[in-house]
Amino acid sequence: MTQEEIWINHIKNSTVDSVINYYNKPAIFQNELVELINQELGNNTKIIEVGCELGVTSLLLSDYFEKTLLDLNPLAIELTEQAHVKLNKKADFIVADMFDMPIENKQFDIVFNAGVIEHFNETERTKAFREYARILKDGGVMFIAFPNHYSLPYRLAYKIRKLLKKWPYPDEYKIYELKNEINNSNLILEKRLILSKKSLMRWLNFLPPLKWFFQFLDIFYKYEGYLTVLKIRKK
Ligand SMILES: C[S@@+](CC[C@H](N)C(=O)[O-])C[C@H]1O[C@@H](n2cnc3c(N)ncnc32)[C@H](O)[C@@H]1O
Repeated sequence: MTQEEIWINHIKNSTVDSVINYYNKPAIFQNELVELINQELGNNTKIIEVGCELGVTSLLLSDYFEKTLLDLNPLAIELTEQAHVKLNKKADFIVADMFDMPIENKQFDIVFNAGVIEHFNETERTKAFREYARILKDGGVMFIAFPNHYSLPYRLAYKIRKLLKKWPYPDEYKIYELKNEINNSNLILEKRLILSKKSLMRWLNFLPPLKWFFQFLDIFYKYEGYLTVLKIRKK
């Protein structure tokens, strides 16, 4: 299956009610990401989530942002748009490819996504970053979130589930701070943050003894959280 087909398959049984359920009971990483991004709220701050899927993080962000949600999957945009209406929330919606967005230059104060960039190789990531930078205002900020493969419990969960052919998402590249992609896109890395320690061990739920073993080891080794977030600034 191509990456696009995997994402289509991932939400094929989702409904507007499931989006609203996720909104009412978000993932730990979504709450933590929202807390981080909400700190950037100013006057008329324009924000876009590129690769939003069901758009739960955007739904949770402060309603004072001027929000846009973009995804390649028309069903994702249809479901999140209907959920926005039901929850009485305002946003704009775009079905498009993030490598070639139908958006004019320098429109947004913030570009963000989670769980998108790790599925692309370095050349593709650089292309994506240049496109994100293009739609960002000068001095604007990007938050790029992806799994922390440098935290052993997550890395192991990924490798074992891949071996067992039980990994339901596209393949992931092991990435750290995307130095080359950032330097080649007129951007500056401000911070590399690690979030979502609380959800780290859940990735081992499929093998409880291994989970218990790592919960024990964590007392001594204090593994890093599940999510890496890069805060990147446009020059
Ligand atoms: C992991 S999901 C995002 C999940 C979301 N961050 C959340 O918290 O629920 C990745 C999304 O990126 C979208 N995507 C992948 N490649 C894309 C592209 N080239 N252009 C736009 N969206 C893309 C997929 O359709 C999918 O909905």
